[in-house]
Amino acid sequence: MSKYRLAVIEGDGIGPEIIRSAIAVLDKVAPHCFSYEKLVVGGVCLDLHGVPITDEAMQACKDSDSVLLGAVGGPKWDNLPGHLRAERALLGIRKELELFANMRPAKLFSVLKKASPLRQDIADRGFDMLIMRELTGGIYYGERGRKSDARGNTIAFDTESYNQTEVDRIARVAFEMARKRRKQVCSVDKANVLESSRLWRERVHVVAEEFPDIELSDMLVDNAAMQLVRDPSQFDVLVMANMFGDILSDEASQLTGSIGMLPSASLGEDKRGMYEPIHGSAPDLAGKNLANPLATILSVAMMLKYSFNMPEEAWRIEQAVEKTLLKGHRTKDIHDNDTPVLGTREMTDKVLQEL
Ligand code: IPM
Ligand code: MG
Repeated sequence: MSKYRLAVIEGDGIGPEIIRSAIAVLDKVAPHCFSYEKLVVGGVCLDLHGVPITDEAMQACKDSDSVLLGAVGGPKWDNLPGHLRAERALLGIRKELELFANMRPAKLFSVLKKASPLRQDIADRGFDMLIMRELTGGIYYGERGRKSDARGNTIAFDTESYNQTEVDRIARVAFEMARKRRKQVCSVDKANVLESSRLWRERVHVVAEEFPDIELSDMLVDNAAMQLVRDPSQFDVLVMANMFGDILSDEASQLTGSIGMLPSASLGEDKRGMYEPIHGSAPDLAGKNLANPLATILSVAMMLKYSFNMPEEAWRIEQAVEKTLLKGHRTKDIHDNDTPVLGTREMTDKVLQEL
């Protein structure tokens, strides 16, 4: 059987450690199915080539069957001009591969309730939501720049804009995902102020007509930020513009106990995707065997499910993670006083043992 080709980007900070964990899990659950092409991208690439991603690496991503990414960026490269920032590599891959649909599931593992900052009665209700973030449009990619006014006062601007096709396609994916879940979509916007949000809301309602079995509601983003901490159990699928999704997915992740637990998938029109934990490169933890590998391991599960039609293997990974947590194994970010702290490698071994 010819192997699937994975482009692997370890990136910066804790990236190499968590990718090592993810590949160990992948090789165990689907041996001989994948070949890996390691690409130097992010801060490491800036150091080596003076750009965050080379044309060759970008081409390798395009030629791959999917991309697995650790994390890019770090304080060392924070003061470079915008077009040379390590994050640019990430934004470039998303755009070039047209990965417009970013899925960020946030669910509370019942054994991690104690790690959640939610009040106990709220945590007890549990939650299991899917944040669908539009990923290749909006303010991240709109016109930006600087100019000065007549008095020499500097002005900086970034533009939020969406066209109808961009909204329609992400809305459609959100409704389709809801169909496999609890059949509810909450569309998040700022339609009381922003014209781009008014188009967003209009189009989501037009697309909703194709999905009469799905219940659609709208919520303003400020209210959504509040409802997430007041009662996250109310949400099934949430769909929103790029920047709102960036912000609310961090909030949702923390409700689960740790940002170190949340995987993500970015998909386009075809099967190929990019898979990465939603946390960053955590430079303070780098090289110390302290990072939580679970978000990256769970990202591999998403990859098997969405890009390679291997739901069984994906399910095995999710079960193994759940069992590992049930047995009380914890990394530093999710531990409480009753449990010893495991390092990245030890936690990975525990998951491997459950597979
Ligand atoms: C994320 C990250 C990125 C984003 C950064 C690193 C550019 O925060 O994936 O959420 O803002 O999209
Ligand atoms: Mg973010």
